Amino acid sequence: MTQSQSHWEKIRPQFDALPYPDEPLDKTPSQDTYFLTQHTYAIPYYLRNCQVVDTTDKWILDAGCGSGFSLLALAIANPGANLVGVDLSSKSLEVAQQRLEYHQIPNPVYLHCLPLEALSTLPYHFDYINCDDVLYLLEDPAVGLAAMRSVLNADGIIRANMHSALQRVDYYRVQKFWAKLGCLEESPSPEEITVTRQTMTALNDWVIAKRQTWQPVFDTDDQGLMMNHLFRGDTGVTMADFSAFLQRAEFEFINLLEWRQWNLADLFKNIEDLPIAVALGIAEMTLEEQLHLFELLHPIHRLLDGYCGHPGQGRDRPPIEDWPDSLWQQTTVYLHPQLNTAAFKAGLEEGAKTLGLFSFDPYLKINEQPITVDSSFASCLHALLSKPQTVPDLVKRWQQVRPVHLITLAPTTPERAFQTVRNFLVGLEGAGYIMLETP
Ligand SMILES: C[S@@+](CC[C@H](N)C(=O)[O-])C[C@H]1O[C@@H](n2cnc3c(N)ncnc32)[C@H](O)[C@@H]1O
Repeated sequence: MTQSQSHWEKIRPQFDALPYPDEPLDKTPSQDTYFLTQHTYAIPYYLRNCQVVDTTDKWILDAGCGSGFSLLALAIANPGANLVGVDLSSKSLEVAQQRLEYHQIPNPVYLHCLPLEALSTLPYHFDYINCDDVLYLLEDPAVGLAAMRSVLNADGIIRANMHSALQRVDYYRVQKFWAKLGCLEESPSPEEITVTRQTMTALNDWVIAKRQTWQPVFDTDDQGLMMNHLFRGDTGVTMADFSAFLQRAEFEFINLLEWRQWNLADLFKNIEDLPIAVALGIAEMTLEEQLHLFELLHPIHRLLDGYCGHPGQGRDRPPIEDWPDSLWQQTTVYLHPQLNTAAFKAGLEEGAKTLGLFSFDPYLKINEQPITVDSSFASCLHALLSKPQTVPDLVKRWQQVRPVHLITLAPTTPERAFQTVRNFLVGLEGAGYIMLETP
């Protein structure tokens, strides 16, 4: 047996015994707009290329698809795309097959039992690869990344993640404790799970290992316990290591999925109060270096979860605050794909009846702070539900919604309407609720 085969034999049994995630077959992520956003190819594509991609006929791979819950999300979030799922564990793939059949997914789906390191033996190339909660289980993540790179189309994008060594430091210590007791030599048996539970229950509550690693759900949740205390092959890295893996595989880092929650400036009461040398030092760093500083100060994220692609595929465009009016006139506005829902439509229709603030949070929470907009703008957003709109069309619509100033009754001029619409669009693009495409 080669070294790789023996590594795969170490990982496989735990997922054959308990395919991940153990979500019930009938559960669907269709209403979970946040989870769907994390599986939408159009989101990182816009982040890098400033263009909106149509997913019809694209090829999407779920590398290490497990029991298929993420495949289901990929199918819902990327209409018309072809899906391929690959996993080491045949038992996980059986569940994935049942799940996809249960939900009668319209997308063509192909499942293959093989290590993702052998992806190039399959007859596909991909526009998007989702590799969630898998990379840290590989013998060498750089080899897995290189295998994915070899089947990624020129303008394709990969979403991949690794466990954070800094956030999970207590779990790695407790895993060593179980290893010393021989609990991690084989895939954890039901007896070992029981022994773990009994041992943790017997610990005093003030013991650091218990305080930091024992969650009440582990009293009943076998998979949660296993994936934290008794996880074979689990490794953690820092943002600096993650970035080095991507570089070794010749990928260009795009950003983290939850980049809005990784803003270094947010960690300071007032960034303006920083000593000048520190502020300058930070300003000269790359994005990845700044993210590493963030985790050193505030390691709250379990995963370092990022997008990357082949180098040089991105498109630069000036900050939208600086766009000349002539560019705005040629801009097309798209709604975030996961906002095109019956609930959002109903919310807009309700919001349009009142003068007040319309909040996006109930429909898609992607910002730390709640994002609101003047509810009169609901009419313009409503138009985006049926098709993308040009800025001039939205300006005309706004003039119809607000023909006069509400206090002075002065007519709304085209110039005034344009300025108002532009301000709304700048705010909503920054918050991630719309996408702006320019020629
Ligand atoms: C924690 S689960 C994640 C499943 C799925 N990606 C999700 O997030 O719901 C890890 C999965 O990766 C698979 N896996 C681990 N190493 C692999 C490898 N080298 N090649 C293919 N699959 C692998 C395991 O069998 C398991 O199903």
